[in-house]
Amino acid sequence: MAVSFSIFFPLILVSFFVSLVHAVPIDPSTILNQLKKNGACCTALNYFLPGKVFLPTDIKYQSSQLSYWSAQEQSLHPTCIVIPETTQDVSTAVTIMSVGYQASISGCKFAMRGGGHTPFAGAANIDGGVTIDMQSMNSVTVSSDRKSVSMGGGNRWGNVYSVLEPLDLATVGGRVSYVGMPGLTIGGGVSFFSGRYGLVCNNIQSYEVVLGNGTIVTASGTANAPLWRALKGGSNNFGIVTRFDAKAFSQSDYWGGSISQPITNKEAFFDFFVNFAASENFDSYAALISDFAWVAGVPSLIHNVAYTNGDVAWPPPAYAPLDAMPKLATTIRKGMTSDFADEIATIALPTEDHNNLLMTLTFVNKGDVSASFMSQAFDLANAAAVELTTVVGLIYTMTFQPLPQVLYSKNAKDVLGLDGEDYINLLFTLSWTLPTDNDRVYARMQELEADLIALEKQMDLYNDFVYLNYAAQWQKPISSYGAENMQFLKSVSRQYDPKQIFQNAVPGGFKLND
Ligand SMILES: Cc1cc2nc3c(=O)[nH]c(=O)nc-3n(C[C@H](O)[C@H](O)[C@H](O)COP(=O)(O)OP(=O)(O)OC[C@H]3O[C@@H](n4cnc5c(N)ncnc54)[C@H](O)[C@@H]3O)c2cc1C
Ligand SMILES: *[C@@H]1O[C@H](CO)[C@@H](O)[C@H](O)[C@H]1NC(C)=O
Repeated sequence: MAVSFSIFFPLILVSFFVSLVHAVPIDPSTILNQLKKNGACCTALNYFLPGKVFLPTDIKYQSSQLSYWSAQEQSLHPTCIVIPETTQDVSTAVTIMSVGYQASISGCKFAMRGGGHTPFAGAANIDGGVTIDMQSMNSVTVSSDRKSVSMGGGNRWGNVYSVLEPLDLATVGGRVSYVGMPGLTIGGGVSFFSGRYGLVCNNIQSYEVVLGNGTIVTASGTANAPLWRALKGGSNNFGIVTRFDAKAFSQSDYWGGSISQPITNKEAFFDFFVNFAASENFDSYAALISDFAWVAGVPSLIHNVAYTNGDVAWPPPAYAPLDAMPKLATTIRKGMTSDFADEIATIALPTEDHNNLLMTLTFVNKGDVSASFMSQAFDLANAAAVELTTVVGLIYTMTFQPLPQVLYSKNAKDVLGLDGEDYINLLFTLSWTLPTDNDRVYARMQELEADLIALEKQMDLYNDFVYLNYAAQWQKPISSYGAENMQFLKSVSRQYDPKQIFQNAVPGGFKLND
């Protein structure tokens, strides 16, 4: 006993001092000296974070680049990629870039990324600056009372579900296993279990955040509450979120899977959908996402992915009309979230080398009028699909999702500004091979967007909400939250980021002044 004590005591002492040294932030003047000596941010980063900074010749740099969902993001080339392992690493990196940016040292602008699923260039990558790739911060820890789960700020949903499921637990999250947890959450989040638990952002109890001066803070309903609220839809404008603490709940297997229908059934489908999506009918256990897919300019089928409670017989009343329609195929069975999330991942779009676009709109659900709008929206979408048939490798889908008041108002402390009515979200997802087709695709989709907005206005169904996670680069999701929410977000930005690092040194994504 005495011997082992004397052997281990110095070791304990040494490791104690080592961790103490790491926990103390590096003095900004030391950083500035180093930055001036090197004249470049990546060199200084490598000095303070050895082994965690990667150059274009490193395999880790290359695999990070290849793991973006779209070619537009892959086409940007940061001078170096930082892969932090701890919150302190993130703080050190942000302090260096912040000090360097303010001293006009070159290459100190930066981007941060989670799963890298935003399609457009620059949202989570940068040319000639620094990208912070959060991939190694992927711990998932359940609290001892099983009521919450802490997720490191670089997780993907599949990893979260794979830890929760053996414990018969779940949390509100994305539908596709490889999509990033952080971006989806701070962008709002519509999801599995939507009805019962509301939007993903409103399920977060606290965040750990690295601010623009490198300070680490906790933001919750009781500590830094304005920051907590701002992160419920305010995206990458306030800091790097290193940990998300979400509510967890018990979950056994439940009904899920897909039902595909012939396109000839579309008018009956629209009538079903507007009823399903109305607050007064909305099954709080249900989630539904309905895709129309085109192949070579020809509409091929309607593909519905449906989920509900496992305690009832299939189909429960909300889904009965859908189940009774003509079917091409169905995979409805009882299963667990990761099973369903992997199923969608296999049918989702190609993940490599394709150029991608998401574009979204919102319209009010007024029953029959909205069903008629959906039918006319289909015709407008079809016209665009026909015109784009010469785009090589084009995959073109139009998706409807319910956004009833009972869903978005649950636990709401967010800044999305959704108010009063039942809505339906409309999403276009396009994917194609050649970057030389990008401008043509963007131009035609902007024309379609304008046509759809005009039709909404004409039918008195217009709502200006733009869901950030589905927005195209030219859309303005944050200003769609309304003037009051914009003012609030800007005041939080001034309070927590007085030097405006996340507005100026982080140019990518949707900014507060766009
Ligand atoms: C196949 C597919 C399926 C999808 N399914 C769903 C779905 O079911 N529900 C839904 O709501 N959305 C869905 N989306 C949209 C998705 O929410 C967005 O693409 C989201 O941005 C993905 O998050 P990410 O972490 O992968 O993205 P990234 O592109 O890495 O990040 C998005 C933004 O968040 C910032 N960011 C990332 N991590 C952090 C962090 N730790 N701290 C601060 N800022 C950070 C980035 O700078 C960037 O601006 C899907 C998208 C795809 C491509
Ligand atoms: C960092 O910024 C926050 C928010 O403005 C502030 O409260 C904190 O005192 C700052 N820390 C340092 C070391 O300047």
